[in-house]
This record gives sequence, C-alpha cells and structure tokens, in this order.
Amino acid sequence: MEEDDEEIILVAESESAGVKYATRLVDVSRVYEIGSRKIVALHDVNLEVRPGEFVVVEGPSGSGKTTLLNIIGAIDYATEGRVFLMDVPIQDYDESFRATFRLTNTGFVFQSYNLISTLTALENVMFPMQLTEHPRAALKERAKSLLERVGLDDRWDHLPWQLSSGEQQRIAVARAMANDPPLILADEPTANLDEESADLVRRILRELNEAGKTVIVMTHDPKIIGTEDARHFKMQRGELTEIV
Ligand SMILES: Nc1ncnc2c1ncn2[C@@H]1O[C@H](COP(=O)(O)OP(=O)(O)OP(=O)(O)O)[C@@H](O)[C@H]1O
Ligand SMILES: [Mg+2]
Repeated sequence: MEEDDEEIILVAESESAGVKYATRLVDVSRVYEIGSRKIVALHDVNLEVRPGEFVVVEGPSGSGKTTLLNIIGAIDYATEGRVFLMDVPIQDYDESFRATFRLTNTGFVFQSYNLISTLTALENVMFPMQLTEHPRAALKERAKSLLERVGLDDRWDHLPWQLSSGEQQRIAVARAMANDPPLILADEPTANLDEESADLVRRILRELNEAGKTVIVMTHDPKIIGTEDARHFKMQRGELTEIV
C-alpha cells in the first residue's frame, strides 16, 4: 500500500476492531405485501458471520438472495426478527444513521451495477467518500488508485454508458472499496461478465478477504462456489441452510 493510501484510510477499520459478528440475523423474515397478496421473501433466517469470513450463498432465482443481502446491508428492513450489523442493532436506528453506518461499514456490489449515469467512472468511485473530511485531491488520488486496481484507470472520465457491462461492474467493485469498509456484500457480481472481468472480480474478492475483510457473496458462479475455506449456504424459498 502506498503512503498516500494509508493517510486516507477512513474510520471503518477502527470501527471493526473488537466486533464479534460482522452480521448477525436472528429469526429474520421479510414479507412483501402487494395489495392483498403476501410474498414471503425470507422466512426465519438465522445467520452469524464472524469478521474475516468468506460466505457464499447459492440459490435459484426468486429464492431471496438479494432480499437477504439488502437486509444484511441495511438497505431494506426485516419485517420480523433482529438484524445486527457490526454488532449494532441497525433496525433500531433512523434512516440517516443507517445511511452513514452502511456507507462507512459496507461496500455493496449490486446485481445491476447501479452506477450513477451522470457521473464519470472516477466520480462514481468517489461517491461513497462524500462523508469524509479528507481533501478532495487526496480522495481523487485514492479513487484513481482503485480504478487502477480494477484495470480501468485510463477510463476514469468515461460515463457508464460508454463502458461495457464488465467494465461497469469493475467500476462498481472499485466503488465498493472506496471507504475501505470491513464488510463487502456482493450480489451475483460475476453474472453476465466476460471471463476476464469475472476473473478480476473473483480475484479482488479473494484478496479483500485475505486482507481481513468479511465477504458475503450471492452467486451461481461455480468458481466462486469453489472458493476454499469459504462457508457455504443454500437459499431455497426464503429459507437459508448452511451446507456442511
Ligand atoms: N420490492 C419487492 N416487492 C415485492 N416482492 C418482492 C420485492 N423484492 C423481491 N420480491 C420478491 O421476493 C422474492 C425474492 O426475491 P429476490 O430478489 O430476493 O430473489 P433472488 O434470489 O435474488 O433472485 P435472482 O436470482 O433472480 O436475483 C421473489 O419472489 C420476489 O418477487
Ligand atoms: Mg437477486
């Protein structure tokens, strides 16, 4: 790591010190109500993930993987049960606290990239850094080094529509690392990617984990599922089971 990078590491690292569970879900259910219909997306899910673990969740389409990840990352609410993020009972807080907390503690790689279409690659990577007090020039340098890490430093001024799917997902991975968060949440991060981009995304997830980050991945990718030393889970109709 370069000296400059060290200077602009954010509060996240110190916040993860002494944490018992990166995420803990207790009897979590998520029911969506559409008119008179109720859709049980998650049913009585229990999960305890220790800091530094690599967790892989497989499951068919519609089984609840995205719902689970959104609840772990405090983007969505459980309708029943308790949710702890870095030991904090995150459901007990208002949206403003939740937003700040997830920005410093989680890096999210979405199934559909979710880059902001009017911002360049560099600005997208800098977006989560907006709560920090470091000089803009230092943040820009860090964002550039993250773009370099995903092999796209020469595309820093491109808008999302000028980039391929694989390149957009690599930008999204750089954005997830922006605040150096202790928890990385990735939702089918290699689906629909060319083999080169997929390889890079898989490698970065492994490296982040080797560097001590907790990584939770929803995936069908056999190469991620084959990750050694990972914990494996299956999601079926909203129920989560560990494969041992
Ligand atoms: N906002 C919502 N409103 C209503 N139903 C929803 C909502 N989000 C998800 N669902 C339903 O919850 C269930 C689980 O959806 P989810 O997106 O979590 O599945 P998934 O395992 O991620 O699927 P995929 O592999 O296709 O991404 C599905 O039946 C889905 O239709
Ligand atoms: Mg999904």
